[in-house]
Amino acid sequence: MRQRFFYLFLLATVLVSCSGDKVKYRIGVSQCSDDIWRDKQNAELKMGAYFHDGVELKFAAAYDSDERQVQQIDSLVNNGIDLLIVAPNQVQTISPAIDRAYDKGIPVIVFERKTSSRKYTAFISADNYEMGRVMGEYIVSRLQGQGQVLEIKGLEGSSPSIERHKGFMDAIKDAPGMIVVGSLQGDWTEPTAYERTKQWLSYNKDVRVDLVFGANDRTAMGARKAFSHQDALHLPLFCGIDGLPGENGGIQLVRDSLLDASYIYPTHGDQIIDLAVNILDGKPYNKETLLMSALVTRDNAKVLLMENEEIMRQSARLDLLHRKANTYLRELDTQRVVNWLAFGFIVLLIVVFVLFYLYHLRKVSMQRERVATALWNMGDTELAEKSADMEKQASCNRPQEEAQQAEKTVSDSQQPSVGKEQPVVSVSSAFVARFREVVEARLSDSNLSIDDLAADMALSRVQLYRKVKSVTGSSPIELLRIARLKRAYQLLLTTDKSVSEVAYAVGFTAPSYFTKCFKEEYGMVPGDVRKG
Ligand code: FRU
Repeated sequence: MRQRFFYLFLLATVLVSCSGDKVKYRIGVSQCSDDIWRDKQNAELKMGAYFHDGVELKFAAAYDSDERQVQQIDSLVNNGIDLLIVAPNQVQTISPAIDRAYDKGIPVIVFERKTSSRKYTAFISADNYEMGRVMGEYIVSRLQGQGQVLEIKGLEGSSPSIERHKGFMDAIKDAPGMIVVGSLQGDWTEPTAYERTKQWLSYNKDVRVDLVFGANDRTAMGARKAFSHQDALHLPLFCGIDGLPGENGGIQLVRDSLLDASYIYPTHGDQIIDLAVNILDGKPYNKETLLMSALVTRDNAKVLLMENEEIMRQSARLDLLHRKANTYLRELDTQRVVNWLAFGFIVLLIVVFVLFYLYHLRKVSMQRERVATALWNMGDTELAEKSADMEKQASCNRPQEEAQQAEKTVSDSQQPSVGKEQPVVSVSSAFVARFREVVEARLSDSNLSIDDLAADMALSRVQLYRKVKSVTGSSPIELLRIARLKRAYQLLLTTDKSVSEVAYAVGFTAPSYFTKCFKEEYGMVPGDVRKG
């Protein structure tokens, strides 16, 4: 029983663990920084994960610190992730941690910023050199090939900074009328850009600046602040990169003329998750993926904003839908577990009931057999006493009329001399004695049928059955069998007859069947009686 409960519990546990929340893939996301560009991408990564079953994301943000990012990658790996998505802060500094993860067999997707190592599974990014170059070409055309530009670069060792600068310089150098009056070292953040520009301006008061190119929009805005503090009425143009939608994003800044242009630096978190799941599922994937991008100017900023607002609205709805679906699924899971538990309990109850019933039946039949054998083997006096007991019991258990009917049948047909005032005890014992006499007289007759016995008892077959059953608890056929085997036992003990001869003598037609019945009754084969 205890074992059955254990299996039931196991079933319930399996069902619970099979329910909606089962994690198939743990994906670590190591972000070098934390800003609105990363926020948008993280939201897309989460949304992307909704479209795959069992994807769990673990995020870590290094806030532009190499040491922190190395630690975070090691800790993600040690906590057992199946895949690492990483934007390395700088090319050289993060590579050892990424290599360690890769060497442990963890697939690595490097996105947006590059490493110095080839130890990665896939790389996905927009083309930063191309962005710098296109922005350079835009600036040349915006200034009609004649102008002075101040550049503020991104973080020194990070690949987008290096590549954007290179692309920009390549575009500018083809325009002889363009002069880069300074290339300041930024670090992607607005405060640093502000400080560096302020400092530069303090040394270059007389230098005319027609346009400032910031390596990203935040950098451009930091420079703008510095210029505004110096002379708010005569500001140069400002261009940046990122072109984010939403509040204070590059697109809005262009629409509001705070920036002259920006360049969309695609985040595409959902696409990165698709790539990750393809790798983990062992499906085909591209090792290098180049994301498409576009320039944001005053001409398209409004349209882009409208489109993005629509996308964001749909994303919010999708998010809501996902959360609702999750709640329903969880409720469904609970319901399923409850149903299975209830079903298990009912099955258990049925099993217990059936076992109990079988046990009861077996007990009753064993008791009957014991009683029948005992009765059959008793002497006449004993028989009379026993029959009285049984009669008493039977009259308690069966309806009054049935008892009366049985008595009537016997007294009418079997013992006409016994009057109604005769005690029940003697009627029953006399009946059993008479029946035993009839049986024993015809024991050797293998063709003996119940009809013959009934005729000898002057009863119908049904009457005989009911009477014998009610008095002894066994059927006439069972008693006949017991009598035959008992006689056989005596013959085996007291004569030299072979087993076959004994079998025929007690009315069996086949010695092998006789041996089988004998063994069932006495627990030994007939030959063993002789040996004893
Ligand atoms: C965001 C960001 C962007 C920039 C990119 C370069 O963290 O600083 O503004 O375009 O990273 O990797």
